[in-house]
Amino acid sequence: MHPLFIDTSRCETFHFDTLPKISNEYQCTDIYDDSLCKSSDSMDVEELSHTSVDSSFKLDSIFDVSVSCLQSYDDMKKNCEKMGLKFVDYSKDESLYEITENHAKAEHNLKSCSVKCLQSIEDLEKECEKFDLYFNNGKVYEVDMILQDKIIEGEKFYLVKWKNYELKYNTWEPEYHLTGCQELIFYYESIKRFSTRLTKNILVHFIRDLTTRKPYDVLSLAQLCNIINDDSEDCINMSNLKITELKMKARHVLQLSPVKLGKITNMLLELMRFSEKRKLVLLNLKEWEKELNSFNPAPYIEVENNVDLEKAPVDFQFIHDYMTKDIDICEEPVAFCNCDDCYKDKKSCCPLDSDAPFAYNKYRRLQLLPGYPVYECNKKCKCDKDCINRVVQNGQKVKVAIFRTSNGCGWGLKTLETIEKDQFVLEYLGEILTSEEAESRGNIYDYVGRSYLFDLDYGEENCKYTVDAGHFGNAAHFINHSCDPNLHVFAVWINQQDPQLPRLAFFAKKKINRGEELTFDYKMVKNHGRFDLQDSMLEERIPCKCNSRKCRNYLF
Ligand SMILES: C[S@@+](CC[C@H](N)C(=O)[O-])C[C@H]1O[C@@H](n2cnc3c(N)ncnc32)[C@H](O)[C@@H]1O
Ligand SMILES: [Zn+2]
Ligand SMILES: [Zn+2]
Ligand SMILES: [Zn+2]
Repeated sequence: MHPLFIDTSRCETFHFDTLPKISNEYQCTDIYDDSLCKSSDSMDVEELSHTSVDSSFKLDSIFDVSVSCLQSYDDMKKNCEKMGLKFVDYSKDESLYEITENHAKAEHNLKSCSVKCLQSIEDLEKECEKFDLYFNNGKVYEVDMILQDKIIEGEKFYLVKWKNYELKYNTWEPEYHLTGCQELIFYYESIKRFSTRLTKNILVHFIRDLTTRKPYDVLSLAQLCNIINDDSEDCINMSNLKITELKMKARHVLQLSPVKLGKITNMLLELMRFSEKRKLVLLNLKEWEKELNSFNPAPYIEVENNVDLEKAPVDFQFIHDYMTKDIDICEEPVAFCNCDDCYKDKKSCCPLDSDAPFAYNKYRRLQLLPGYPVYECNKKCKCDKDCINRVVQNGQKVKVAIFRTSNGCGWGLKTLETIEKDQFVLEYLGEILTSEEAESRGNIYDYVGRSYLFDLDYGEENCKYTVDAGHFGNAAHFINHSCDPNLHVFAVWINQQDPQLPRLAFFAKKKINRGEELTFDYKMVKNHGRFDLQDSMLEERIPCKCNSRKCRNYLF
């Protein structure tokens, strides 16, 4: 046990039968070492953090500061003993209130290091920082998952995912640190072996975890139901079932006869191994979902993979506006209106100098034919933000989800609400490149068989700029192609009025139902201006998997 410090001089002689309510429990452990989570080979035993779990340690953690001790010296000692804590009285020591480096290092193999504390949280935190100790304010570590194991110098270590901690906090722990999680270790060891006999314990653990762990692993649940249902006649598509139905069906496995269980044992063990991998995938995607929403002004974007073991894309970052390096975007409009009511005065409203008609109807739905430009009111116009001619600039309102497609198109984007025909959905954002830069990037994208380059050559002979959503973009990065799409793209000018630098906005081509995938035609019909995703230079064309009746068989 790593002792903190007990100021017995400040103890008052109060007696409590139970633990006092005002109690802070602090734990100090060596700071987590990231490298341990990433590589299983480079472990330095000396650097191991010595956290452990013991559910009996769950005291109410109160985040008050500076508690003076409410227990007598003897009570405190007894309580420490009860909890398996080493009680050290430093009151006679000069070093009272100090965690010396020696204290921390000498007590290396501690089971835990919690005592009632007499210092303020701030002081403690500072002390811990001084010695590179991880300060944990009253929290108890609980093992969530065992991910890997290895033996070093005859000692067994497990890679632990801690409950309520992100994956980056995973640590390697010697077996004796892990108390109260024998069932987890047993399960881990059992399904790892290919010769495992399927016991009731293993099955119960699997089903309990699968039917309670959130987010639910719909794929594993559906696969389990298919395994159970396999030889019955009503084999249905399980993934269409509601989660409660899936869970109910999954629990049936516990009622199967030994004969039936015997038949499906291998499939079940295989599924258990698969489901362990899926847990990590779902955790990884949840973390990504949180990250991409952290500065997102649009409605919360969900991430869903009910299909395979694909984790979050690693080389993609979310942005919320065009990104430019050397290109100067002038946000000073030269044309603007003076209307009292832009909808009533639409004949004299924006667009002023163009033949283009007014873009929206009174419900803010687009009323232009494909290819016509959209000129919205801008910051120099007299109207306010409620003007009917301000739609794209007010941002995305539709709730969408990035999801794993089941037809081999990788990630896709779907709507989580009904979208009306001509409704604005979202913009296509990315880095703005000059066409020369875009060409060299295009070669790389061709190499990996994907394209994210959108040429801004609206109605122009020569394309000056291209939007690259490959590494930086918004949810539109994930929109797949369809030869019969439900979105189409329009060029929109707001504060920036350079004809070569429009914004790209997707509007609904038709009514789109909740849950439908959003798609656009990567090669749109060029009537009022050329406008599409850049051609692939690949010798082999990319076969189209849009599955529509109008499919042209190739993307480009
Ligand atoms: C703009 S990205 C769309 C997002 C992509 N699916 C992903 O996983 O990141 C374009 C790429 O997606 C794939 N893709 C999109 N639509 C497709 C379709 N209809 N058929 C086949 N592949 C498609 C192709 O690899 C294409 O180059
Ligand atoms: Zn206006
Ligand atoms: Zn205006
Ligand atoms: Zn197609």
